[in-house]
Amino acid sequence: MVFDYIDGGADDEITLRRNTERFLGHELLWDVLRDVSTIDTSANVLGQAVSAPIIMAPTASSRLFNPRAGERAVARAAHTHGLLYSVSTLASTSIETIAQETPGPKVFQIYVWKDRGLVREILQRAKAAGFVAIVLTVDTPVAGNRERDPRNHFSIPPKVSAHTAAQALVRPGYLFDLATTPPIRAENFAHIAGGVGSIVDFINTQFDRTVTWRDAAWMREQWDGAFAIKGVGRPSDAAQCIDLGADAVWVSNHGGRQLDTAPATIDLLKPIADAVAGRGQIILDGGIRRGSDIAKALALGANAVAIGRPYLWGLAALGEAGVNRALDILTSELQRTMALLGRSRIAALGLDIVADVQDADTRSRHLDR
Ligand SMILES: Cc1cc2nc3c(=O)[nH]c(=O)nc-3n(C[C@H](O)[C@H](O)[C@H](O)COP(=O)(O)O)c2cc1C
Repeated sequence: MVFDYIDGGADDEITLRRNTERFLGHELLWDVLRDVSTIDTSANVLGQAVSAPIIMAPTASSRLFNPRAGERAVARAAHTHGLLYSVSTLASTSIETIAQETPGPKVFQIYVWKDRGLVREILQRAKAAGFVAIVLTVDTPVAGNRERDPRNHFSIPPKVSAHTAAQALVRPGYLFDLATTPPIRAENFAHIAGGVGSIVDFINTQFDRTVTWRDAAWMREQWDGAFAIKGVGRPSDAAQCIDLGADAVWVSNHGGRQLDTAPATIDLLKPIADAVAGRGQIILDGGIRRGSDIAKALALGANAVAIGRPYLWGLAALGEAGVNRALDILTSELQRTMALLGRSRIAALGLDIVADVQDADTRSRHLDR
């Protein structure tokens, strides 16, 4: 049930599959006889100098996947690799605890809750804890229909039933960790009267379906640091994000977990980059599984990519060592891809290195350059 919670998407999982398939549908075109003795993947993302333009995407309840360390393991691995960690508002570890874990730069993901006082309070806490930026997620007016979860009788925190007990019993190590560590809950809101029983209940009481652009502008005013809007798919919406003062537009379909049959994010990127026209940064997530995918996204206009499942699989398999391994794989693949492309710096990954197999004209144009 825990694997399916990470792995699954909404409805028929069309968007989930397409996110990865469409990376495969883009080809890389390479230059020969270039000096690639030094490959420099460093970049500046949301005002922070990072060793590579890869962000750990916000994912709720990391202690579900590793009850002992959870978000603390992710924060440490991100810091080890010199990468930005964007912590979910629904994290199972408080932002103060995560902040104490490492000095690495951290971003806080937020929603506009019904209780605006609660929003202001959590922003003040994020500021006090040294978070450098906030990310407002806007593709979640309601939770997506992820059918694997009810099929597995899965909830956060997990409820004991014949179904869930049977699944947990075949993972005794996990069960032991779960039973001998504090209960998994939305730790940032644990102080609210009565505590937060289930994340779904919390979402149902606090998610505000009346949220509009006015509220996004309000959120911008509440935070004086870098501000990104996550879950954008339309060029006109991207332009509006920049107009209201966002520093970055985060192109995302929530990893195929919200609106099914939404396009793959890589197909949305170029028109959005054209609309933003350098007035802000662009972050893309959804389906990044290889270093070559990162190169393609950067070439098509992203300033950075974010990854969700790749680091969660590592976390679930092996804790902090697993997250480190996932990041080692991705960063070394990015470096190898850049060397093979004949491009030694991130800024050199331009439109001319990528062609959509469905668009033979682009390929011949780029090859003729
Ligand atoms: C288990 C899981 C939990 C997630 N929780 C959140 C969340 O709390 N807030 C949010 O903005 N996005 C959340 N996301 C979406 C990710 O931030 C990101 O958009 C997505 O995982 C990227 O796709 P990828 O998993 O293919 O890399 C979650 C994704 C997963 C897989």
